Amino acid sequence: MEFMPEPYRTKAVERITLLPREQRIERLRQARFNVFKIPAADIFIDLLTDSGTGAMSDNQWAGLMIGDESYAYCRNYITFEDTVRDITGFNHIIPVHQGRVAENLLFTCTVKKGDYVPSNNHFDTTRANVEHQGAMAVDLVVDEGLDPKLDAPFKGNIDLNKVENLIKKVGRDKIPVGMLTVTNNAGGGQPVSLANIKAYSELLHKYGIPFYLDACRYAENCYFIKKREPGQQNRSVKEIAREMFSYADGCTMSAKKDGLANIGGFIATNNDELAIRLKNMLILIEGFITYGGLAGRDLEAIARGLVEALDEDYLAYRTEQVRMFGQMLLDEGIPIVQPPGGHAIFVDVNGLLPKFPRDQYPGWGVTVALYREGGVRAVEIGGVMLGQHPDGSEHFPEMELVRLAVPRRVYSMAHLAYVVSILKKIRDDKSLVKPLKITWQAPALRHFTADFAEI
Ligand code: F0G
Repeated sequence: MEFMPEPYRTKAVERITLLPREQRIERLRQARFNVFKIPAADIFIDLLTDSGTGAMSDNQWAGLMIGDESYAYCRNYITFEDTVRDITGFNHIIPVHQGRVAENLLFTCTVKKGDYVPSNNHFDTTRANVEHQGAMAVDLVVDEGLDPKLDAPFKGNIDLNKVENLIKKVGRDKIPVGMLTVTNNAGGGQPVSLANIKAYSELLHKYGIPFYLDACRYAENCYFIKKREPGQQNRSVKEIAREMFSYADGCTMSAKKDGLANIGGFIATNNDELAIRLKNMLILIEGFITYGGLAGRDLEAIARGLVEALDEDYLAYRTEQVRMFGQMLLDEGIPIVQPPGGHAIFVDVNGLLPKFPRDQYPGWGVTVALYREGGVRAVEIGGVMLGQHPDGSEHFPEMELVRLAVPRRVYSMAHLAYVVSILKKIRDDKSLVKPLKITWQAPALRHFTADFAEI
């Protein structure tokens, strides 16, 4: 089989430790069965997130040394702005310290109580920021995106009929902005096709609704477009990205993903009037308009990371590593969302544990078992993360997933094979996954801090 291995070699290493099982059991008890609350030093393989966890290149580390820490218009901001503009084509580039601040700024400045914001799937922070304004975040992914077994190239697409129905039902004036997440993280990391992005843009614009991309993983999305969408094979990923952004009025971005940086993000827009309001708000909550809560050196690392993330050897290796990880699990009969997404494998817990009651949080139970059995940290994207509603009620999402996010340029295939071996153990002895109840929870985004007890 032909594949692209890591197009780099190791220059520095970081020791990781597998604690003995009794100590892992103790750590789980201390963390009240919430793996977010286990000290990272006690994790062996950390697949909690691909966000901010990537390895920077020697070029990025070198960039840190030319950080210009002037308060206003530092030279790294100029490099950052030029780079983002070159990739996206947007007029106003506003740095923030991470993606959710971009969301907060956008929705604070555009959304009001009683509004609706459509997307394929809102990520949890996006949803929470929409709901924080008293508005409804509406998920309108295509039906095939809801079928974890279906192997289709663009399961992240938004269903244009559902969008038009929403517009007709609630009225254009109640929809201040349409979002689209590329790749679609909460829907299994699945890509969106260029054709779908264009058609969604045309539909929104027909009704005069601005269109913003949640662009965290845009480079991975554009690589899938190149590989999977007819007519795109001979274009560069950068060209595809430029076309993709040309359909939008702006974007929110967490540079902790396809910026290959450990912190940072931006909001970009072509709307001059909105840009003024965004910048005023930025000064209130993040800092001056040319640093947005970041150091000059961070801006340099992001600018360099954004360029590296468009390297097609890197993208080939990146998507291939995730695909091979997924294939190893499938070969062991462990059900996953198909096909593998760009940044993560999503274990289909309803498929793995079909008899497990949803209100005893089977996905969360799998994250606990992964740590107990192998020191592996994963994240539940299921009943705990997505089941809590602003009115206090609990409705479980159709899919109960456990995400194994693969940090960029960090783990080897041997690390991932080890994770597969732990999941095999769970597959062979399902009693390793124990039912749970929540003993404490925050009113929103409960998964980060909730306490659990095993029933
Ligand atoms: N949008 C998407 C699609 C995301 O995946 C994330 C973060 C954000 C927005 C927010 O960005 O963390 O920089 O504030 N996702 C991380 C994850 C946390 O683990 O998937 P942020």
